Formats: sequence, C-alpha cells, structure tokens
Amino acid sequence: MKIAIIGAGNLGSSIADGLYINNMITELYLTKNNLSTLTKWKKIPNVSVSSNNVEAVNSSDIIILCVQPSQFKNLSNDLKKHIKEKHTIISTITGLTLGILESTFGINRNIVRAMPNTAISVGKSTTCLCSNSFGKTKLNLAQSIFNNLGESFIVKEKNMQAATVLCASGIAFWMRLIRSTAQGGVQLGFESSESLNMSISTALGAVSLLMKNNSHPEEEIDKVTTPSGCTIKGLIEMEHHGLSSALINGLISSFEKINQISLK
Ligand SMILES: NC(=O)c1ccc[n+]([C@@H]2O[C@H](COP(=O)([O-])OP(=O)(O)OC[C@H]3O[C@@H](n4cnc5c(N)ncnc54)[C@H](OP(=O)(O)O)[C@@H]3O)[C@@H](O)[C@H]2O)c1
Repeated sequence: MKIAIIGAGNLGSSIADGLYINNMITELYLTKNNLSTLTKWKKIPNVSVSSNNVEAVNSSDIIILCVQPSQFKNLSNDLKKHIKEKHTIISTITGLTLGILESTFGINRNIVRAMPNTAISVGKSTTCLCSNSFGKTKLNLAQSIFNNLGESFIVKEKNMQAATVLCASGIAFWMRLIRSTAQGGVQLGFESSESLNMSISTALGAVSLLMKNNSHPEEEIDKVTTPSGCTIKGLIEMEHHGLSSALINGLISSFEKINQISLK
C-alpha cells in the first residue's frame, strides 16, 4: 500500500509505527512542518519525510489526515485539487464531519472518518470508523489498517460523537477506575506502586476473562460473589454510593458536552 500520513504528529507517528511494524506499506510518505521529530524515519527504506503535502498525496493511494481541526482549512486549500477518485482519504480529525469532507474534496471521493484513542501508541486502540456513500467499499481497507493498531468498529456517522465519548474519553474513565482501586489498596495497607500494579493486573485479568469466555460482566461477577461474602458486600456498598449511576451519567454528561462543542 502507498500511504501518506499528512500531519505526522502524535497520532500520525503512532499510525506510522503500526503500519511499519505490521509490514503494511510499500511506500510511506510522512509530512509535517517541523521535520526534526521524524528523524528516525529518514533512514528507513521506502519512507519519505517532507513538508510537501502535494507530492505525498500524488504519490499515494491512501491519505491519512492527522492534523488538528484548526489546521485543516489551510491544508485543504493545498490538497483539494489533488485528491482524485483513486485516493482513499481517512480523516482522524476530531469533529470534522463527512459532510465537511465531502464539500471540501467532492462527493465522488472515497472518504472515511476514523476515531482512534491514545492506546494506538501501544497497538491497542479502539477505533470507530464510518464512511460517505461513495467510500463504503473502502471501509474494509480502513479496518485492515486500524485492526493492526488495535480493534476497529464500523459505526453510523450519527454515532461518532458517542463513540468518541465511549472509546476516546473512555480511556480517561478507565484510568480513573484503576486509580481509585489502587488508592483503596493503599488504604488497605499496600505501598502505592505495589497497589497500582496489582490494580492494573486485576483490570487486565477482568478484561481477559470477558474476551476469552465471551461472557457478560454480570456472569463473571456471579462467579466471585459467595452468598453473604465479602465481594457482594463491597459491590452493594459501591452501588449504594452510585457507582453504576455515576459512570452512566458521566458518559451522558460528556456526550452532552461534545455535542455543544460541535455545534459552535
Ligand atoms: N492523539 C490521539 O490519540 C487522537 C485520537 C483521536 C483523534 N485525534 C485527532 O487527530 C488529529 C491529530 O492529533 P495529534 O494529537 O496527533 O496532534 P499533533 O501532535 O499536533 O499533530 C498534528 C501535526 O500536524 C502537523 N501539521 C499541521 N499543519 C500541517 C500542514 N499544513 N501540513 C502538514 N502537517 C501539518 C503538525 O506539524 P508541525 O508540528 O510540524 O507543525 C503536527 O505535527 C487531531 O485532529 C485530533 O483531534 C487524535
């Protein structure tokens, strides 16, 4: 695959790492303004590093847009007449709708939106994807890229904001849960680092059980709750203080906020 990553900053570089490690490129073009952060790529065969977006686009089939939302307008002025039917545009730019992308590049262009999360840097991103009508057949291609960087899900565009809350903000929500259980461990007598490691390992175990057994969380909970035992006592206390309700309402608040931001 001939791929251009336009705006190879944090996210773009992580995608480049994943593509390279998984042997997914025949040619890779990385662009940004300040090239000093891309030095390692200069020595790698079949990888070009430059600030020339037009050359990168003309030499590639897949164009992954990774600039900040505020940087898109300038970039699109440079690129729009160079995007052809052969190209697949994959935009990771938060909040940039398929409608805006179509009005910039044309409705007869293959356009995919991708919303990864920060775990992309360790190959564990949950990435939500959607496409315009013309680009529907390119969703498999986008999945093949992002499944090498974690796991991808195809969603309707109207659900992209919800996907951002659940999966991208979701990283912060899970971090807070891990931090809280680790603090609880300190209160029970463990050293902070010991408690954090045990909490992380327990979270990983819980996730692994769900994935291996393809089970519902409540099924796994039943297996550890002895009648009148300590686990059910702890769970009831947590629910008494609104654990599930706090998480659900937190997601709803984030969703309301993201919708306000995108209306501005
Ligand atoms: N980070 C994540 O995990 C994540 C997750 C989901 C979505 N996103 C979205 O992904 C996009 C990128 O995020 P990021 O965290 O990677 O931002 P970032 O580190 O700031 O990267 C953006 C890069 O774009 C480059 N750039 C700006 N204008 C350019 C132009 N005209 N031509 C070529 N390159 C240009 C900048 O290069 P210079 O610094 O050299 O100017 C910068 O390195 C954002 O829209 C963000 O909302 C990010």
